[in-house]
Amino acid sequence: MTHLIEITALTKTFGTGSGSVEALKGIDLYVDEGEIFGVIGLSGAGKSTLIRCLNRLETPTSGRVVVAGRDLTTLNDSELLEARRGMGMIFQSFNLLSLRNVWSNVAFPLEMAGRPAPIIHQRVAELLEMVGLSDKAKNYPAQLSGGQKQRVGIARALANSPSILLCDEATSSLDPQTTASILSLIEDLKERLRLTVVLITHEMKVITEICDRVAVMEDGRIVETGQVIEVFTAPKHPTSKSFVEVVLSNREHFLEKGYRPKGILVRVGYIGAMVVEPLVYTLVKKFDVEANILQAHVDHIKGTPYGTLLLDLAGDTACVALALDYLKSSNVNLEVFDDPDSH
Ligand SMILES: Nc1ncnc2c1ncn2[C@@H]1O[C@H](COP(=O)(O)OP(=O)(O)O)[C@@H](O)[C@H]1O
Ligand SMILES: [Mg+2]
Repeated sequence: MTHLIEITALTKTFGTGSGSVEALKGIDLYVDEGEIFGVIGLSGAGKSTLIRCLNRLETPTSGRVVVAGRDLTTLNDSELLEARRGMGMIFQSFNLLSLRNVWSNVAFPLEMAGRPAPIIHQRVAELLEMVGLSDKAKNYPAQLSGGQKQRVGIARALANSPSILLCDEATSSLDPQTTASILSLIEDLKERLRLTVVLITHEMKVITEICDRVAVMEDGRIVETGQVIEVFTAPKHPTSKSFVEVVLSNREHFLEKGYRPKGILVRVGYIGAMVVEPLVYTLVKKFDVEANILQAHVDHIKGTPYGTLLLDLAGDTACVALALDYLKSSNVNLEVFDDPDSH
């Protein structure tokens, strides 16, 4: 199966000589039609550069960016313009035209595409309806809340009926509630308009909220990629782990609050509906250890339940070691924060 978006060995270096910055150091990734693909990374990781290479706001230094079978690096200007119309983009800072009202911000890309006035009128009305802003048509950006501004951004991005929506930290300047409403709008529109979404963020919560797959970026590279539920419940790379930690306020949280572990702290992660009691019961009964549940977190990602459990395992050293072996052989993801084997 061919992918809608396929990026191969992509590099981007800004500047030349000693002052140059290698923003992308060899990126390989694909995005399938209908997916919401997330890219997470800290500031400076190269996320914006990556997404800007997708619509050629940046020209790659080397590598290939193929969208719908067309290699964007080989297109001439008019082909590029057409390819770009197939991609809408929204930004953290909304990038609205402050001297134009809502209606005419949304009309702008249609005017640029040379659409006739009656078509523009019909389309803008449709778009404003879609993002729930029909009553704000005459307002100027300065009169809107952050969430409303991003809704205008979304309407504008979708004006020319693109098949791909690119989101660069689109919810990063919004409060949690507004973030949730914008994310659910994006998810809704994705279904209704059969969009493919590439979304970049520094917040794991955004990823778990709506993404299907995720790539974790660090220093111009992808360090881990996979289904969100897998990366979230069993992160492999330290950077992925640190993003997960932010969501599951856990070990650090307890230690910061002055909690002194009696034994060894472990985190058990599992996918699917697992009943926690039997596991803890076995630890206590069979291995004669004390298993203190410090935190239990159950949630779901795209309808799949998952859970994490932070345990303090205390008792006789040999018993604790056997209990750890038991956990390691169980069908759970285990993270041992102070593994006696590692000393
Ligand atoms: N136009 C540019 N000129 C020079 N350096 C740039 C430019 N754009 C980005 N960079 C550098 O590239 C690196 C990645 O930046 P960026 O893609 O914006 O990361 P992110 O979006 O993950 O914060 C950073 O070191 C940044 O300073
Ligand atoms: Mg950025």
